[in-house]
Amino acid sequence: MFNLVLFGPPGSGKGTQSENILATYHLQHISTGDLLRDEVSRHTPLGTEAKKYMDQGLLVPDEVVIGMISGKIDDTPDARGFIFDGFPRTRPQAEALDKLLEFKQTQIHLVLALEVPEPELVKRLLDRGATSGRSDDNEEVIAKRIKEYHSKTQPVADYYNAQGKLEHITGDHTIPETFKILTRHINKYLLPVT
Ligand code: AP5
Ligand code: MG
Repeated sequence: MFNLVLFGPPGSGKGTQSENILATYHLQHISTGDLLRDEVSRHTPLGTEAKKYMDQGLLVPDEVVIGMISGKIDDTPDARGFIFDGFPRTRPQAEALDKLLEFKQTQIHLVLALEVPEPELVKRLLDRGATSGRSDDNEEVIAKRIKEYHSKTQPVADYYNAQGKLEHITGDHTIPETFKILTRHINKYLLPVT
């Protein structure tokens, strides 16, 4: 099993590159943003609670997100591995994920951190907001999301760096060029499915 965390600020390309990685390596994709948006669209109690935070650009409380993810890992016991996209986003989430994976006698093998200058992040999110129907489509919410990232999520990089698992990736190339850089790192652990 090979488990990857795709890390980086909002708009750095985690969702975009996850799709490329899935297609090439046949890993299971776990995106907490997608899972939460699905709960919101189905008007579940979890979704109703999460929406209050998401609409403001704030992180959803850890216990809500951690509860949601553990079931998802159990859904696919035969997976070749997982890509965690947008999770973990706080240190308690990272610790909870380590425990969940340890219970399954596996671990996070690699954390690829996409780095993109802030003006480019804002531009990408505004462009996407024009068509996505997502609530993070204006400068105010985008600025709050980036602030949350710096205060709560950035420390997760130190957590994985201390475990020797963190690799920094420049993420402001074209989508295919960035993917090529990611594959160089992943190929050290797992070969593409041909
Ligand atoms: P979530 O949906 O997880 O947001 P995110 O994935 O961090 O951020 P984005 O989707 O905005 O960016 P991305 O890095 O995936 O970039 P993308 O590939 O889309 O979270 C949403 C909300 O849910 C959070 O604010 C929070 O409230 C809540 N939440 C989720 N997970 C949580 C957790 N674990 N804990 C607590 N709360 C949580 O790319 C962006 C755009 O740029 C696209 O239009 C794309 O086409 C374009 N693009 C990508 N790469 C390039 C490139 N190389 N060149 C040009 N354009 C590019
Ligand atoms: Mg995303």
